[in-house]
Amino acid sequence: MGLKKFLASALLGATVISLGACGTSDSSGSGENGTIGIAMPSKALERWEKDGDYMVEQLEGNGYSTDIQYAQDSVPTQVSQIENMITKGVDVIVIASIDGEALTDVVSKAQDQDIPVIAYDRLIMNADGIDYYCTFDNFQVGVLQGQYIVDSLDLENEVGPFNIELFGGAPDDNNARFFFDGAMSILQPYIDSGKLVVKSGQTDFNKIAIKNWDGATAQARMDNLLSASYTDATVDAVLAPNDAVAMGIVSSLKGVGYGSSDRPMPIITGQDAEAASVKSIISDGQTMTVFKNTQELADVAARMVDQIIKGEEVEVNDTETYNNNVKNVPTYLLEPVAVDKDNYQEILIDSGYLTASDVE
Ligand code: BGC
Repeated sequence: MGLKKFLASALLGATVISLGACGTSDSSGSGENGTIGIAMPSKALERWEKDGDYMVEQLEGNGYSTDIQYAQDSVPTQVSQIENMITKGVDVIVIASIDGEALTDVVSKAQDQDIPVIAYDRLIMNADGIDYYCTFDNFQVGVLQGQYIVDSLDLENEVGPFNIELFGGAPDDNNARFFFDGAMSILQPYIDSGKLVVKSGQTDFNKIAIKNWDGATAQARMDNLLSASYTDATVDAVLAPNDAVAMGIVSSLKGVGYGSSDRPMPIITGQDAEAASVKSIISDGQTMTVFKNTQELADVAARMVDQIIKGEEVEVNDTETYNNNVKNVPTYLLEPVAVDKDNYQEILIDSGYLTASDVE
């Protein structure tokens, strides 16, 4: 191999390695209207990649260049990625935070440089420099999950009691409590009346929260619940906050024989319409998911960016729900949709969000 070729391939190798190591994927558009920094949490979940890809597409289509970074769920990595964006002098930063409590300092650095910041999907707490927030109605996500359980078990008419176990999302993600509170707004009355029984007795958010939304952690917790409380009882429903957690729960239940004709799967909720979960729904593993069209959310973020840069009024539809301990952050909320075996075709496939082969 000649020196030139060697250097070229070494360089290529180095680039590939650094892409893998940092989860960085710089991209660029024409940039005539400015440069937008996008800080995403990780590629571990399909949704964040879709969110990122759509946002880049929208922004570049509108004449912006983009600098998109994924942080592998590492808070220090995310902080330094945002610091780099500030040093580079980007015009707006869009952040889907890993830990909503950990970005106060870096957001205040952006504010010092007059760089507007949009919190994407997850609110950033204790930061005056958050200008806007775009997300789905997080409380409503939980309501859809809770209501699905109520309807599936027909709690209005059945006498019960039915056994349920509760799981929550990452404790450092502000959304996780909204999801849980929304679900409990529906489920709590049935728990109070005894129609739903949490045999483990674990109902406190801090007890049921799953760090990093990690499926393996959820699986381990479900294993423990099954061996401690269900050796001679059946689980009828599991409140799972998202698809990653739900898939861990499904594995655990399958491991002890659920999912057969004499021992059907309990009702298991989810969120995100990840392809693996939709497959599981089709094959009677997980029962439902909550679909949040990330394309729509990316569109909202891109529109906010454009309105900020052009000095236009930024369109929001909620100025009361999301307080980050410093202020009510002006928010644009989108509606989530419940999806199960009966409507996945129409909502996910016919709409083009997933392809039929994604879920085969
Ligand atoms: C998002 C969910 C996602 C979870 C884990 C939440 O903040 O709203 O869509 O499942 O994070 O990444």
